[in-house]
Amino acid sequence: MKIIVAGVPGVGKTTIMEEVAKRSNYKIVNYGTVMLDIAQKEGLVEHRDEMRKLPVDVQRRIQKEAAKRIGGMENVIVDTHLTIKTPAGYLPGLPVWVLERLKPDLIVVIEATPQEIAGRRAKDETRLRDSESVKDIEEHLQANRYAAFACSVYSGANVLILENNEGMVEEAVEKFLEAIK
Ligand code: AP5
Repeated sequence: MKIIVAGVPGVGKTTIMEEVAKRSNYKIVNYGTVMLDIAQKEGLVEHRDEMRKLPVDVQRRIQKEAAKRIGGMENVIVDTHLTIKTPAGYLPGLPVWVLERLKPDLIVVIEATPQEIAGRRAKDETRLRDSESVKDIEEHLQANRYAAFACSVYSGANVLILENNEGMVEEAVEKFLEAIK
């Protein structure tokens, strides 16, 4: 089975995936890390938070290259994005050429309230997170839902909307594990 997990930056995807990795037999692949490896080897960026600021055609090229690397893997959970907020608008994280390589069975969209997400970003000192208003985060959450269902119709994958509300990581992990049984 191939599972995609996505959500706006700071919603807690990585936090949940770290727990899932300990309790399942799935290999977890972070799409951003694969792209970062490619971009760093080409001397384009130093840090993952610089990638969404690269010219859109460069992001698309690296995205395609990453899809080739990840597409051949089986029994995998791919930690990625449905939409990436760039200075030139929302870049689709799973355009047709990526979906055709990944062939997902399930798309899990992690969500929290815009206020919770803003608070987590503000507290997270490990990253260079964009500071966004609650209204902007709300728009991004909506964009991700639209993209998830478009990808579902195209690929036949189910969509699971999973809440990761404040202090509820364990509950989110359990629901995720239940869905991939
Ligand atoms: P990526 O590596 O996915 O980075 P990201 O978007 O910033 O997401 P993170 O994984 O860092 O944040 P998160 O939501 O997992 O939150 P976290 O667990 O850290 O992507 C990097 C880049 O790669 C993208 O920007 C893009 O450029 C590129 N990319 C990736 N896929 C692509 C694609 N398909 N196409 C094109 N480009 C692509 O949690 C945040 C904080 O919240 C932590 O402090 C945590 O402790 C806290 N927290 C979490 N859950 C809770 C909770 N329930 N209660 C309280 N606190 C919580």
